[in-house]
Amino acid sequence: MKMWSGRFRQPLNSEFERWQRSFGFDRRLLKYEVAASSAHATALKNAGVLSANELISILQGLEQIGKQALGSLAFFEDDEAEDVHHFVEKQLVAMIGEVGYKLHSGRSRNEQIATDLRLFVRAAIDQLQEEIAKMCSAFVDRAEQAGDAAMPAYTHLQRAEPVLVGHWLLAYVEMFLRDAGRLADCRRRLNVCPLGSGAVAGATLPLDRGLMANKLAFDAPTENSIDATSDRDFAIEFVQGSSVLALHLSRWAEEMIVFSSQEYSFVELPEAYSTGSSAMPQKKNPDLLELVRGKSGRVVGNATALMIAVKGLPLAYNKDLQETQESLFDSADTLLQMLPLVTGWVKSVEFHSEIMQQAAQSGFMNAWAAATYLVERGVPSRLAHERIGKAVQMCLERNCELKDLSLQELQSLSPAFGEDFKQSITLPAVLAAHDVAGGTAPARVRQAIGAARKKIECLREEVHAHA
Ligand code: ARG
Repeated sequence: MKMWSGRFRQPLNSEFERWQRSFGFDRRLLKYEVAASSAHATALKNAGVLSANELISILQGLEQIGKQALGSLAFFEDDEAEDVHHFVEKQLVAMIGEVGYKLHSGRSRNEQIATDLRLFVRAAIDQLQEEIAKMCSAFVDRAEQAGDAAMPAYTHLQRAEPVLVGHWLLAYVEMFLRDAGRLADCRRRLNVCPLGSGAVAGATLPLDRGLMANKLAFDAPTENSIDATSDRDFAIEFVQGSSVLALHLSRWAEEMIVFSSQEYSFVELPEAYSTGSSAMPQKKNPDLLELVRGKSGRVVGNATALMIAVKGLPLAYNKDLQETQESLFDSADTLLQMLPLVTGWVKSVEFHSEIMQQAAQSGFMNAWAAATYLVERGVPSRLAHERIGKAVQMCLERNCELKDLSLQELQSLSPAFGEDFKQSITLPAVLAAHDVAGGTAPARVRQAIGAARKKIECLREEVHAHA
């Protein structure tokens, strides 16, 4: 039986009937539907709508449905179910008889889908946080293993200054931890319970909304029934937060693709995560990285799709809202599949430390440190910059580095140059000079590794507190 056929004289057009269903994709919400329905049933009993025995049989029926859904896919074969709400009702009635129809007393699918989706997003955030923590740990482990190894840092993709490999890896950890923070914000705001909001104006029975919220581990019931049934902010925040995470992953992937090219040869692609070419026998391609970069496009697209679906909707529920589901699911699925693979890649990638180290020592990346040497000897910064620029020019003409200039040549540019200049522009000296919080001096990076580990631990604790 349909959930609404009473007032209709004609059957639905069969193509339309199939087309308007959401069961094909909202079936994955079944476990949340069962949990929310159980909470509602308990409130119905407290409101005197269900007898104690009726409650027991409904709860047992729902539990059974939840269990069967874990089994074979054949369970979901149903040509009539309009959506997961209808499906559960049909199953329940098939299992326990007409008393199953009592479950829908005083509620609407509008509040049900709003509740199920909140539960889905909450669980997806918890899973993502767990994966982000693992991924960040992998980055920090590599940062620690890299020790004092150096590499060039780039601005404008031109060699800029040397940094520790660990410092560079920790930059990504910061980005991903911010992503985790954005998801945590979203979780905090979403954790309120729409049950009892009815179709738009609130339940027509005196349901204990606090009890229902509590049973589903929400912090409180939602404040306004009109808002609660039409709000999809939590879904939008989730896909937007996911988009920033995907953008970060995409930037990382792009950098790894560049660094793995023969032109850089900073990283060796792990064979387990690469593929070859059907035509060119020598090839090893960065497929994992390219798919990470490519799939970030769909995650960003999902955020756009969801916002546009909601834009212009009058209050409260409109069937357009059904269209918010697939984008939401796709963002969650895409990232949940991607993150463990990225973690695996990071664990197995090989850094060509010698090439990186070599690159860190050439290309005048010590020029700023050289200018600083003059500044420390009283030369005004602008003039010091200009003098070192001239020294670089000399080197370019002679195809050498700053360290190869003689003291005499240097002193022809500025009398402030002394014997100790060469020492001050060696790679270790240049690295150590960046001795500020957040800088690349080795001691600072070691501190940063410890700080990152603490932040990851906090993230883990947060996730476990929710489990
Ligand atoms: N399948 C619907 C959705 O996803 C459930 C809510 C249906 N409500 C309604 N008034 N038709 O939005």
